[in-house]
Amino acid sequence: MIGARLGAGREADVHAWGDDAVVKLYRPGFGGHRAEALALAELAGHGVAPRLIDVVDCAGRTGLVLERLAGPDMLTLLQRRPWRVLGLARALAAAHLAVHAIRAGDGLPTLRETLAVRIEDAGLPPRLRDFAVRVLDGLPDGDQVCHGDFHPGNVLVAANRVGVIDWVGTARGVPEADHARALLLLTRADPLPGTPVLSRALTAAGRSVFARAYARAYTAGSPRTLRRVDSWLTVHTAARLSEGIDGERPTLIGLLDRAQHRATG
Ligand SMILES: Nc1ncnc2c1ncn2[C@@H]1O[C@H](COP(=O)(O)OP(=O)(O)O)[C@@H](O)[C@H]1O
Ligand SMILES: [Mg+2]
Repeated sequence: MIGARLGAGREADVHAWGDDAVVKLYRPGFGGHRAEALALAELAGHGVAPRLIDVVDCAGRTGLVLERLAGPDMLTLLQRRPWRVLGLARALAAAHLAVHAIRAGDGLPTLRETLAVRIEDAGLPPRLRDFAVRVLDGLPDGDQVCHGDFHPGNVLVAANRVGVIDWVGTARGVPEADHARALLLLTRADPLPGTPVLSRALTAAGRSVFARAYARAYTAGSPRTLRRVDSWLTVHTAARLSEGIDGERPTLIGLLDRAQHRATG
């Protein structure tokens, strides 16, 4: 049943599984399959995520059998067809708005609580940690589905469908929070640690064109006025540091430092 490997990340490998499915095999010791299976169950029927077909055990590793979505991921597509940058940015925004239109069930973790834990784990100097916690304390809970790691590497683009994958960090929150995380990844961090894929896919100029077009399309298409995106950006900048990506650290600390100075005048 198990076929060629299609992708490999920190937590899991993805292989073909028959003709129409893939299996996401989690590495031993990672519990992300529980969170992802729960999120996929909530998303069933909405058409944005692959269908969860089965949960299997493969030589001691838990595998989620997922509907196989067609098409390359959007990062690969940007690399192959950079002239499509504006259309792809709009498709990214449309997919993100479709996620945020879904009301979250009670089973999903609360994004604000998840972020509070990550800020504690970020190894920040106390002054910046306290600042980030204070900003988070002033932000609302929300009831919509937030993907948690929305970037063009987690969006598969086919002629007739744009599908979103990788729902391990999915939580319940306000759309602005998830939008801010995507903005952070597009403008200040690298979505796929270790390989500067976005920077390779686009020149620096192309990257900022892509990020701005995504932001514009997201804002224009949002059914609500976006509130406090800058505060969410601050919180996500702090939380991102818990992912331990050394190359990003100085930039992210610098951003937090400036945000704190602005806030305290
Ligand atoms: N449902 C799917 N259909 C087709 N390909 C998939 C599917 N899920 C994952 N993949 C492939 O596997 C890769 C990694 O999957 P992903 O869920 O993003 O895991 P991670 O980023 O944690 O390694 C994707 O980039 C894609 O190439
Ligand atoms: Mg991924």
